[in-house]
Amino acid sequence: MNKQELVIVEKKMESTNENDLTVMDLPGVGPATAEKLAIAGYEDLMAIAVATPGELIDASGVGEAAAKKIIASARAAMRMGFESGTDILKRRQSIIKIPTGSENLNKLLGGGFETGAIVECFGEFGSGKTQIAHALAVQCQKQNPNAVAVFIDTENTFRPERIIELAKGAGLDPEIVLGNIKVARAYNSDHQMLLAEKVSDLISKQGLNVKVVIVDSLTAHFRAEFIGRGTLAERQQKLNKHMHELLKVADSNNVLVYVTNQVMARPDVFFGDPTAAIGGHVVAHASTFRVYLRKGKKGSRVAKLIDSPNLPDGETAFIVETGGLRDI
Ligand code: GTP
Ligand code: MG
Repeated sequence: MNKQELVIVEKKMESTNENDLTVMDLPGVGPATAEKLAIAGYEDLMAIAVATPGELIDASGVGEAAAKKIIASARAAMRMGFESGTDILKRRQSIIKIPTGSENLNKLLGGGFETGAIVECFGEFGSGKTQIAHALAVQCQKQNPNAVAVFIDTENTFRPERIIELAKGAGLDPEIVLGNIKVARAYNSDHQMLLAEKVSDLISKQGLNVKVVIVDSLTAHFRAEFIGRGTLAERQQKLNKHMHELLKVADSNNVLVYVTNQVMARPDVFFGDPTAAIGGHVVAHASTFRVYLRKGKKGSRVAKLIDSPNLPDGETAFIVETGGLRDI
């Protein structure tokens, strides 16, 4: 695309609201191409703006020159949204910190689990990841009676009975609390990804005041479906797409996305902790906060903050009781 054409596209894009533009508004994209692109996952301008020409050629069969032109136009149309520090500070003031019932754990996380972020808890079986998920689904409602929690359940570990106990422990009406938790069972990784995409609909179309989205477990299906070295790249690619979808949910709706992750043994490590989180860098980088959970003494659980943009790393202990998470 030459400079003049770009200017025309930019002018046209400027006169329309960016949100109203669709892939079909891009030069050289007719209904057939748009459909092919959509099938391959290029449904909005952002997806196209960050694609490579090769990817678009594969997806839609357009020629190289056309692909370059489509990408350049999509880029020209994107207001990449630089915000001032003041704007971001203002936005951060709308962040809510969802407490857990354990003051220690709240303090470790600067007051609670933050909305607008992905928080990843990883640890061995029985370390308390699912218990924290249940606690958050209840506690967000204690803070705000209209709050809704979404629970994407991949391992069939959501237990309404447990919610009833926790609601009672928090002094809430169990029936109301259960009603405000929307649970969906994910049967495989594609299903899980689709459910994550549908969360935005719950908010925008059904008008639910979703404050927490739980994915428990984030990685189990991916781990089970992609076995062996050869499929690792494909798995990481899909996981990356999933994480970005979740990031979008967290960011654009001021929602806490809480994901759980198991650990695997690292036979190469002789000193220090011989375990590593599943999902590697893809999950680690997309998560805003990472908490490592392990079993401590006398039935306690130890939580260690591993990665945080603004909090010191630290460690604390709590226990899981019938009525909720408590300090020791
Ligand atoms: P995996 O999903 O297997 O990786 O484990 P997880 O990290 O999700 O563990 P989970 O959160 O399920 O923790 C299980 C532990 O929580 C149990 O071993 C119990 O110690 C505790 N727990 C679970 N339910 C209850 C309960 O109703 N009351 C009490 N007091 N403790 C419970
Ligand atoms: Mg679990």
